[in-house]
Amino acid sequence: TITIKNENDIKKMRIAGQLASEVLDFITPFVKPEITTEEIDRLCHNFMVEEQKTIPAPLNYAPPGHTPYPKSLCTSVNNQICHGIPGPKILKKGDIVNIDITVIKDGYHGDTSKMFMVGKAQPHAQRLVDITQECLYRGIAEVKPGARLGDIGHAIQVHAEGNHYSVVREYCGHGIGKVFHEDPQVLHYGQPNTGMSLQEGMCFTIEPMINLGTYKTKLSKTDGWTVETADGRLSAQWEHTILVTQDGFEVLTKRSEESF
Ligand code: MF3
Ligand code: CO
Ligand code: CO
Repeated sequence: TITIKNENDIKKMRIAGQLASEVLDFITPFVKPEITTEEIDRLCHNFMVEEQKTIPAPLNYAPPGHTPYPKSLCTSVNNQICHGIPGPKILKKGDIVNIDITVIKDGYHGDTSKMFMVGKAQPHAQRLVDITQECLYRGIAEVKPGARLGDIGHAIQVHAEGNHYSVVREYCGHGIGKVFHEDPQVLHYGQPNTGMSLQEGMCFTIEPMINLGTYKTKLSKTDGWTVETADGRLSAQWEHTILVTQDGFEVLTKRSEESF
């Protein structure tokens, strides 16, 4: 049940991916000390709905076993790994925050996230953020027809663990298209030459979550969504939506400061 995208699908995935990346560009100047995560949500929601005419995919998203997600994006701060729900939390100097955007345009999804440093991060936090971005880039560099999913996971795991960090196991990247989360599961750890072979026309996300301490997670009991590190230490994540092309990959959610 892996969907292979045709030319028409790919055109629309490019548009959705670009729009998702533009939401991150839009919000960047606002991510400063004293803003709340619900203000970030409100600003992005209005930008998506009113300016882009996109649908924020997270809003009311309700996979099995979950209550409907109440906001339009995820904001995961410091020890929060992913799926943090925007709320009255005030961002302060030294926080690191992941903002994860998924838009739907013309029936197709674009999914991307990046880390923001609020004010200036401490060196150990900055280093975690930078190495996690390198993990994403090393994973992406493996993508081409005939490569296997385990090659991606392995490249990420080696770089994370080589820097004495750990790779979150319970959450992974995913196929994406007309459906938000579809097959395959893209693990961020693994062995080379194992797992499904990649084929031209596949689309999936790579979104490594890398922890300073243990990879073990805990789910918030109060909101049922926010995933935190079990030891309370920092976590970072970066995400792109990728298309497998004839000779490699295309990063559908590339931002202007990135060159692939
Ligand atoms: N954007 C997240 C991902 O990368 C999923 C968020 S689902 C939500 O897959 F409901 F928590 F928003
Ligand atoms: Co995703
Ligand atoms: Co995402």
